[in-house]
Amino acid sequence: MNYRINFDEPISQMIQRLKQEHVYFESTFKKVEKSINENTIKEAIKTIHDLSESIIKHAVEEEARLMRVIMHNAKEESADSIKIMQEHNWVVDFLKHKLQNIEGEINIQHSQQIQQQIEEKVKGEINEFIANLRNHFSEEEQIVFPLALKADSSYLNKG
Ligand SMILES: [Fe+2]
Ligand SMILES: [Fe+2]
Repeated sequence: MNYRINFDEPISQMIQRLKQEHVYFESTFKKVEKSINENTIKEAIKTIHDLSESIIKHAVEEEARLMRVIMHNAKEESADSIKIMQEHNWVVDFLKHKLQNIEGEINIQHSQQIQQQIEEKVKGEINEFIANLRNHFSEEEQIVFPLALKADSSYLNKG
């Protein structure tokens, strides 16, 4: 996937789209949790895997466009938003590296007892990732998106 960014999309429109994407990601998290509860752990991993590129693209767009307008027009208020954007580091690390390790681990043949231990560990890791990501989305919607909107409109007003 390429991460070509559309710089022509108005910020307010983009924020609406990013919020819709959060809703979509949340609906797939529900699917993942269902798979975990039903013990179809490979299905849970596959669902996250299939979502990886869209989540990474979403994060790249937030940094390239929202942080750009914030740093230009609301730099003095940017500290919290910068911290929230830095959370993308563990998001990307999980999706690009950790998930691969998990897939490797889960696909090796082990004794049943060890297989069970691995599955429990993986379930914990996936649940933690989802919980952190939910929290990340809500921080963005409460802090980053409103600040980006404000920074964008102050820019527009300045003409
Ligand atoms: Fe994000
Ligand atoms: Fe987001």
